[in-house]
Amino acid sequence: MKHIIDILDLSVSEIDALISTAQDIIAQPKEYAELCRGLKLATLFFEPSTRTRLSFEAAMYELGGNVLSVTGAATSSASKGESVADTAKVVSCYADIIAIRHPKEGAALVAAQNASIPVINAGDGGHCHPTQTLADLCTIYREKGRLSDLTVGFCGDLKFGRTVHSLINALSRYSGVSFVLISPEELKLPSYVKDGVLKPNGITYRQTTDLEAALPGLDLLYMTRVQRERFFNEEDYLRLKDSYILTPDKLRLAGPDMCVLHPLPRVNEISVAVDNDPRACYFKQVLNGKYMRMALMLMLLKDAGRIG
Ligand code: CP
Repeated sequence: MKHIIDILDLSVSEIDALISTAQDIIAQPKEYAELCRGLKLATLFFEPSTRTRLSFEAAMYELGGNVLSVTGAATSSASKGESVADTAKVVSCYADIIAIRHPKEGAALVAAQNASIPVINAGDGGHCHPTQTLADLCTIYREKGRLSDLTVGFCGDLKFGRTVHSLINALSRYSGVSFVLISPEELKLPSYVKDGVLKPNGITYRQTTDLEAALPGLDLLYMTRVQRERFFNEEDYLRLKDSYILTPDKLRLAGPDMCVLHPLPRVNEISVAVDNDPRACYFKQVLNGKYMRMALMLMLLKDAGRIG
């Protein structure tokens, strides 16, 4: 039984195949409209979400299937003390595939170890968010035509940003990729990502606090919000939250082909005035996320023998 807990649960060739399937779905959606007829996705979201939950659900509907949904711990038996392990066993009796978001790192893995159907991690605490990474990779491929030979800037909360950790993990497997890590001192990329991913893979990277100086050399800029929900005190969050705000003025320093990505939700870190710039790709990223989730669910349901 294949589960997707970490982006590394997918090989490079599987990711390439998912991007190819997503592009085919975009080109001929009717060919996919009945493939999950009679199947059910359970979305178990114990932490807030707009994009991930709705895009999973839209993805399953567009494949002809149905959706069962838990939205928030308060409305499920988690509020009575039911464990993630028991929840996964129970939901396996009702659905064909699970997408789970949980505030605790490792919760999706526990669900996978106890479910009898495929489990997809839709975000576990500050750890991983592999399907956001699939949306990011698809967008990069569609905008730049490649996933190799790229200089990628990550800006903002690189400490708590699970989407950053997952995308660095994914891109580190492609050749010629280097990173510029732009953050306040307190929100630098954790050592476990530098020592566990960048250094063993021989990835070139540099750390800086200066967004403006970094902009001219980037192929991609991945902006992130400061993750309020992971801070221990509000004072630190308020001090750091507006460390970087991308504006049209700053964007003038970037090349004409640089793409601006953001996993969203945006708070204040990209000015709304940037949205009309052709380099702003974050709403395309949202749409690509739905197609990649369709491709991923098809792959896992085929692997589990639930579709032909
Ligand atoms: N990018 C993302 O995970 O958004 P949501 O929190 O709205 O799902």
